[in-house]
Amino acid sequence: MKPVTPLPPGPRGLPLLGSLLDYQKGAADFLLRTRTRYGADSRIRMGPYVFTLATSPASVYRVLVENRPNYERGVLYKQFELVMGRGLLTLDDEDWKPHRRAIQPAFTKAAVASYYPFIEHQAQSLVERWRQASAEGRPIELISECLRLASAVILEASLGVRASIADDALRRVVDESIDIMFPHGTLSEQLPEWLPTPRNRRVRQNRKRLLNFAQSVLDGHEADRDTIDVISSIRREHPDLSESELRDELLTIYLAGHETTAMGLCWALTMLAQQPGMHARLSEEAGATAVANVPSMAELAGFGYADAFVAETLRLFPPIWVFPRDAREDDTLSGYRVQAGTSVLLSPLVTHRDPDVWTNPSAFDPERFLGKQKHPRGAYIPFGLGARQCIGNAMALLEIKAFLATIAREFRLEVLPTSINSYGDSLVSLRPLDEVWVKVTPFDAARKVAV
Ligand code: HEM
Repeated sequence: MKPVTPLPPGPRGLPLLGSLLDYQKGAADFLLRTRTRYGADSRIRMGPYVFTLATSPASVYRVLVENRPNYERGVLYKQFELVMGRGLLTLDDEDWKPHRRAIQPAFTKAAVASYYPFIEHQAQSLVERWRQASAEGRPIELISECLRLASAVILEASLGVRASIADDALRRVVDESIDIMFPHGTLSEQLPEWLPTPRNRRVRQNRKRLLNFAQSVLDGHEADRDTIDVISSIRREHPDLSESELRDELLTIYLAGHETTAMGLCWALTMLAQQPGMHARLSEEAGATAVANVPSMAELAGFGYADAFVAETLRLFPPIWVFPRDAREDDTLSGYRVQAGTSVLLSPLVTHRDPDVWTNPSAFDPERFLGKQKHPRGAYIPFGLGARQCIGNAMALLEIKAFLATIAREFRLEVLPTSINSYGDSLVSLRPLDEVWVKVTPFDAARKVAV
């Protein structure tokens, strides 16, 4: 008789509820604890649902690359659809392919390079704003600052509209929408969409406001620019895409592209503020070549330590810390059975802290990305992997590196007392738990003080 492949081990949890309460108390820490207790691949029951937490590099690789056709976006991505509609992130298979083909030209190497002046412009005005804040003795709050920067870059560079199209009211809608997308495991999330519950009303109101915003992006689009942006790329490559499909794609790019990049930058700056030795190395690297306040793209290409610093930030604090797939048919992951219909959770946060892969995994150490060190395939996945890998990854890396190098070269940062390095995880992205306030001092002023 053929031996039966075992199911993965996992917490028993409470009758009926399973591990739901542990998850609700702190989802990321619960997943990290489960990894420690049950190994890299485990099984978690939450209420009526059973999940496989697949975090070993081999399982990650199998789900995202080797046996990709067996894994669809699944039920958890349906929550995203409530906000973003049917766009690149939520579409599957044959629906997804033509959309990816239509948008890809806006994210080629050449297209991303053509966006650099927008990044440079934002970095330049940041330097002026921070100098002014320092002169007036005002601290800077990093989360809101990074969100503003990333929003401006994506609107101006990728969507071809003015950054001022986004205001505080939109920020509130976006924050609420991000909260809606994340499954909190509450009963109200399980009720049918047509019921007039407070949550369903909130979902509908937000979606309506986001669609109005997408329409204002279309109305404000500057079609006569030299650069290729998402809208011009779609109109050229896929002219029969309906206006409503186009609006969903714009929302997808705006929402998927700016919150993530902002959090990557925010964590990088939080690390910078706490690591004077690394700060000195970054500012020496940037200072050695940069003539203007903001390094040029050619100069940035030579900043190897900044690359390692950004890579390490995205390892320890991956902005997308968990994402799902559903198994279409039975499969075997790292020797364990995954039954058809199971939701599989992939967690960059847990995989990136796997002690079987990373030495001293909770230490922040950019050195691990310098030189020839190699990690196994599936071990480093801040942008996902395979055909569905993040379309904006080169743009995000360029943007974070440019802001980081500019700031490292121009300012000294001191974090004001706050609970830095802890994350609030009940969101799609990994955000610091509290606001992060820093005192910024321009280096020329700092040097004058030191004299
Ligand atoms: C540090 C910044 C970023 C991080 C950490 C990040 C992370 C990710 C991850 C993990 C995925 C894969 C999700 C999955 O396979 O289920 C993804 C997909 C995606 N990302 Fe990003 N992202 C970032 C920046 C951006 C930017 C700048 C854009 C657009 C301008 C963007 C747009 C998208 C889109 C549209 C997808 C879906 C791609 C597809 O399935 O074809 N992201 N991202």
